[in-house]
Amino acid sequence: MRAVDIIIKKRDGFELSKEEIDFFIQGFTDGTIDNYQASALTMAIYFKGMTEQEATYLTEAILHSGDVLDLSKINGIKVDKHSTGGVGDKTSLVVGPLVASLGIKFAKMSGRGLGHTGGTLDKLEAIPGYDINISEEDFISQVNEIGIALVGQTGELAPADKKLYALRDVTGTVESIPLIASSIMSKKLASGADAICLDVKVGSGAFMKTVEKATTLAELMVQIGKACGKDMTAILTNMDEPLGLAVGNSLEVIEAIETLKGNGPKDFTELCLEVASHLVVASKLVKSLEEARKLLIQQINNKEGLDTLAKLVKAQKGDDSYIYHPEKFPNAKYKFSVEATSKGYVSHIDALAIGNVAMMLGAGRSKIGENIDHAVGIVLNKKVNDLVLENETIAYIYSNKEDIKEEIMELQKAYSYSKNPVDSKLILKVIK
Ligand code: URA
Repeated sequence: MRAVDIIIKKRDGFELSKEEIDFFIQGFTDGTIDNYQASALTMAIYFKGMTEQEATYLTEAILHSGDVLDLSKINGIKVDKHSTGGVGDKTSLVVGPLVASLGIKFAKMSGRGLGHTGGTLDKLEAIPGYDINISEEDFISQVNEIGIALVGQTGELAPADKKLYALRDVTGTVESIPLIASSIMSKKLASGADAICLDVKVGSGAFMKTVEKATTLAELMVQIGKACGKDMTAILTNMDEPLGLAVGNSLEVIEAIETLKGNGPKDFTELCLEVASHLVVASKLVKSLEEARKLLIQQINNKEGLDTLAKLVKAQKGDDSYIYHPEKFPNAKYKFSVEATSKGYVSHIDALAIGNVAMMLGAGRSKIGENIDHAVGIVLNKKVNDLVLENETIAYIYSNKEDIKEEIMELQKAYSYSKNPVDSKLILKVIK
């Protein structure tokens, strides 16, 4: 088999076989196929697409390029979730403890953030002492004991994806649906859960700008997961504004704590209940989403979800007193209020722009390995469809620097207004 023949076959729009895809990915991973040929193939895939079968073979080839976690020593059905990346997205911090408090096994590996704000790991590290680096053995025993672990990657999961993603990033081939689907699903499948709920973000602040494109991506990921024997759900959610009110690491942990106490923002609480309900049904604890939701609300009211978050923090060497006393999180030096430059109903909040402001404050990193400031960030005071009067406060900025003129201007520019309320819906579609 020759790499060039595989490239030509895809360039001419033909379907690749499992053997051809395996040969190419293996060769690319071990270095016998060079970057220039992999670039040509990804560009051919970008233009010619892939069938569902090819995308499944590609996912499996990337998945088997590295370690695959064996969670068979964890009793019962293991559930996991994944978000395609949202500003203000701290859903795992609420969904995980809520479902685990019902006895469901939530075994999740998360990533660090690049851009916008930190990822789930960075948010967890805002809790003093929290250790994301635990061995596979401890990961498994922790999930068996307390039902939940939220950790960084153990072992080397999907190394072919790392190499391929770096290449796609500099060859204009990131935005290919089969390449995105196989990239995300190879990593998710390598983490070993039985049931997966995907939150696919749609809108100006997301990878997928339209419902049509997000639907195509979500359907393909669901099909790939099912072909690999997993129970799959994808939820399409609107990213035409940040999720919840808080953007920034410790601010988001505090919001997650408040949500577990029943005091969370409406949109964020709703998304957590929706994702968690699908996982509860997938775990076979109850049959319907309605029953699942009832149980989850009960776990908020009786604070068992909150107690499970505290147990998780303690198990991973963090200081669990912060969960019951969020006022202990260190404050940023300055708090500024940002005023509206116009009046009317908020019609749109550019989530990417808000994420960039958070990054300018130091909440996110622009380069891998950069330090981040856990205390800084933004708390929105007005969300889409809130009525705003001129000079009213739309948001607060928490900063460790005094001169934030640019950040204030960018934040003001992120808000758009209209005379009347707009049509706005958080959950756009559910795909099973
Ligand atoms: N996230 C991933 O992990 N891979 C992609 O290709 C796009 C988003």
